[in-house]
Amino acid sequence: MRITAAPAPAAADPAAADLFDPEFHASGDPHAVWAQLRAHAPLHLQVLPDGRKFWSVTRYDDVCRVLGDHREFTSERGSVLTQLGHDDVSSGKMLVSTDPPRHGQLRRPLNRRLTAKALADWEDRIRQAVADFLAPALGGGVWDVARRAYRLPMTVAGALLGVPEKDWDDLVRWTAMAAAPDDAEFSVGSGAATLAVAHHQTFDYFAARVRERRGAEPAADLIGHLMSMTAGDAPLTDEEVIYNCYSILLGANATTPHTVSGTLLALSEHPDQLRKAAGDPAAVVPTLVEEGLRWTSPASSFLRYAVTDTELAGGRVAAGDAVAVWIGSANRDERVFTDPYRFDVLREDNRHIAFGYGPHYCLGAPLARLTFRILFEEFFRLFRSVETAGPARHLRSVFIAGLTQLPVVTAPR
Ligand code: HEM
Repeated sequence: MRITAAPAPAAADPAAADLFDPEFHASGDPHAVWAQLRAHAPLHLQVLPDGRKFWSVTRYDDVCRVLGDHREFTSERGSVLTQLGHDDVSSGKMLVSTDPPRHGQLRRPLNRRLTAKALADWEDRIRQAVADFLAPALGGGVWDVARRAYRLPMTVAGALLGVPEKDWDDLVRWTAMAAAPDDAEFSVGSGAATLAVAHHQTFDYFAARVRERRGAEPAADLIGHLMSMTAGDAPLTDEEVIYNCYSILLGANATTPHTVSGTLLALSEHPDQLRKAAGDPAAVVPTLVEEGLRWTSPASSFLRYAVTDTELAGGRVAAGDAVAVWIGSANRDERVFTDPYRFDVLREDNRHIAFGYGPHYCLGAPLARLTFRILFEEFFRLFRSVETAGPARHLRSVFIAGLTQLPVVTAPR
């Protein structure tokens, strides 16, 4: 997806655009279509050839309303657009597909391990992971930041979860398949087959880790925590432990790489902003991180189902209807962001919702923010500029917006 230029609204016909088509998100211009929808059709219905249908909401306030109230819009029938029409087997077990009150029982004890305070001890480890990530750039040649970024969150989440390093490459591949099963880079057959293989491999993997740990002293890592914590007044079942390991891993691996590569792409395309950031990183990195998140919005869409008939975005949806929220659109809403298509590393009052909104607000947000802060601190300590050295390739996915290829040259200080 193009995430740099201001959209060309005249060229965008929302009635002709297929928001359900991964190819549209790879080679089309969803930002132009979203701009049209925000302006003229804030509640937009799309009916697929097989009869399935979903509404789209694109304005910031409407997206927050849908994400913010589980009594009106449930997550329990699946929260990803690609699952449209298929009930979710992880409902009530995996955090992201569970509504309150059960959701809070699962989330509270897990969250304790992922707050900024709890993660303070991880800073050195993350700095090391970032140093490894940037190492090939020190030679001054061309390197593919998008490709390399795929492994970065794994080195942190893998250590946090407590999975051995020898397994990280497999887990990176399976989560990439699950996040973008229609991208040729990751697919092993049809999209549905790729998704099935990815789920099977990852669930089997975590089932084996849980089996080998049962009966032993609980480890201090996140798998150990999931296996020993209580939610409500009972421990988690093995199935719940496995689903939530998957959720944490997917949450980290599917999104983080794209904010890294997308923010570096934006800096390469806005030399004035690059100069500002490189000139005073200590002052700029905190706002650069937030602008990078708003700009890239890697978690592009989420799904909810209406619980009752309700008014939404000036129209009506019926109980049982599927509603897709487009986070990348909400984060360019001109009602909320001044000059939303300007990449501004010093943007003030940046109320982006890249991490979602409401009860399911990203559990990994403190970890992601810490990783990005360290990454850009290290980047500007070592380098003064970034330039593209070949074409970018965009991910083929309706769920995740991002890059699979971005050759760059980074000039040392
Ligand atoms: C740029 C990085 C990230 C972005 C943009 C992002 C985005 C999001 C969004 C939008 C949601 C809300 C889903 C919904 O409403 O249905 C979410 C939930 C979640 N994220 Fe992240 N995420 C990121 C990094 C991470 C990391 C590093 C982790 C792991 C530590 C993680 C784990 C999770 C989990 C477990 C949930 C489910 C929370 C719940 O249902 O209560 N995410 N994320």
